[in-house]
Amino acid sequence: MACDNQGMKSLQQLLTDRLTAALGADPELRPSTKPQFGHYQCNVALRLGAAQGRPPRQVAEQLLAQLNLDDLCLPPQIAGPGFINLTIKPEVLAQAVGDELADPNCGIPQVDAGPVVVDYSAPNVAKQMHVGHLRSTIIGDCFVRVLRASGETVIPQNHIGDWGRQFGMLIEQINDEQLDLDALDLAGAEELYLRANAHLNADSDFADRARARVVALQGGDPATLASWQALIDLSAVGFAQTYQRLGVLLTTADLAGESSYNQSLAGICADLEARGLAEINDGALVVFVDGYDAPVILRNSAGGYGYDVTDLAALRQRIDDLGAKRLIYVTDARQHEHFMKLFAVARMAGWLPETVEAEHVGFGMVLGPDGTPFKTREGTAVHLDDLLDQAQALASEEVAIAAIKYADLSTQLQKDYVFDPARMTATTGDTGPYLQYAHARVSSILRRAEADGDVVDDANAQISVLIEPAEQWLALSLTRFPEAVADVAGSLTPHKLCGYLYDLASQLSSFYEQCPVLKSQGPTRTSRLALCRATQRVLAIGLNLLGIRAPSVM
Ligand code: ARG
Repeated sequence: MACDNQGMKSLQQLLTDRLTAALGADPELRPSTKPQFGHYQCNVALRLGAAQGRPPRQVAEQLLAQLNLDDLCLPPQIAGPGFINLTIKPEVLAQAVGDELADPNCGIPQVDAGPVVVDYSAPNVAKQMHVGHLRSTIIGDCFVRVLRASGETVIPQNHIGDWGRQFGMLIEQINDEQLDLDALDLAGAEELYLRANAHLNADSDFADRARARVVALQGGDPATLASWQALIDLSAVGFAQTYQRLGVLLTTADLAGESSYNQSLAGICADLEARGLAEINDGALVVFVDGYDAPVILRNSAGGYGYDVTDLAALRQRIDDLGAKRLIYVTDARQHEHFMKLFAVARMAGWLPETVEAEHVGFGMVLGPDGTPFKTREGTAVHLDDLLDQAQALASEEVAIAAIKYADLSTQLQKDYVFDPARMTATTGDTGPYLQYAHARVSSILRRAEADGDVVDDANAQISVLIEPAEQWLALSLTRFPEAVADVAGSLTPHKLCGYLYDLASQLSSFYEQCPVLKSQGPTRTSRLALCRATQRVLAIGLNLLGIRAPSVM
């Protein structure tokens, strides 16, 4: 295969390059929709024929006459009105799988286009993570893994809610109760939050004291700051426990809470005023953005700073100080407008140059069994730990986490999905545990071969016999892995990687049905074992990119 510093070219890319050269245009080559159409199909002759007023078959014939694909394909077929069907030669497939197995990046194209900041998880201090944070954490973790595997430099940013008016009531309540913060954990802090909130609503004197406490916090009063910091620290411990339970990559080093931007908020306001973008509206300093009724709020009428301006400061810092070339924000879809306005203001201010891409990836809600948004019996958002407990009641932790992550990632992110532990943890169907099981099964074959002394050497594996259609399709599926990963890195659509892995696992099971491995002999056995090893590796790497563990035994 062609090798350069970009890694190897996929078969689809090699074919596309050839067809493009002959055609002078994008051939729109796609994987075939049906096995009888070969491995790849190209329907461009139909479009060109219609545009040029020529029979598409003639266009197809002419294209093929200009082109020699003999080194890669069996003789191309023209089908129906002018579809071109291409079938890769078995020896080319074998070579491509061998190259992929020998490549340390498993063929994934490597690109480093400058730092990518991924803003995700972002729970709030003194509150447990809820189901929305679960989705953000799982999706963001997948992005980080996929981008890193693609050679990118990724900077995770956990924009936790560690600032705001709620700290006034929390700290007053702590003082009233003479609470020992050293003895408080995150669950306890959340109960404190509920008590403080009830107190605030019931007692106007307390509400006044809470407001004064906010002023003391903003003014840097040492005792107030100490309580505030203690709440952050104990929350961070709770978050870290959940991250560990979930098996995500976030660490305390990635914390970049809202409070870290306090010093730059006044400057953001002044800058936008100087540029003539900000205006006073009902006593607040705001920026209006075309197409939206509600403005971006820089400073409220009481002089306070909030969520919007903090995000502007964070965006600027990520571009100016972290050197970000791509910004990705992962939150629930209801925050979409917030981010669209944020990006618009940053572009107007010149803080977000055209060379930097900014994307909001909004996700849908997690629904309960009755199809309505997941709530506790008390009507509050369900805690993430409760969800994990529900799935873990049906499966081991490793399988339960896989089930949840896969359910979260395998449908289009924008869609809502139903949290159905029984379906999610099933080892059949399009589930995380099914893919784990596929990995465990192929691992067991390799283990048994190893016991006979047959160990596959990745760097020199001999995939030499690809006669059966099932082994050819499995090989073809393996060669598509790098493209699937590159696609997800670009389009931020993990469901495509899930779909790819599910297809690979299905090809693997047809292969088992039609091609005995351990009972075969000679070069056939060697070749099939190498194919098993290549599949095991792609399944393991692919699952890892989803944040799912690939057990060897289940
Ligand atoms: N803490 C917010 C929440 O719980 C999410 C923050 C998302 N990130 C951001 N840069 N605004 O809804």
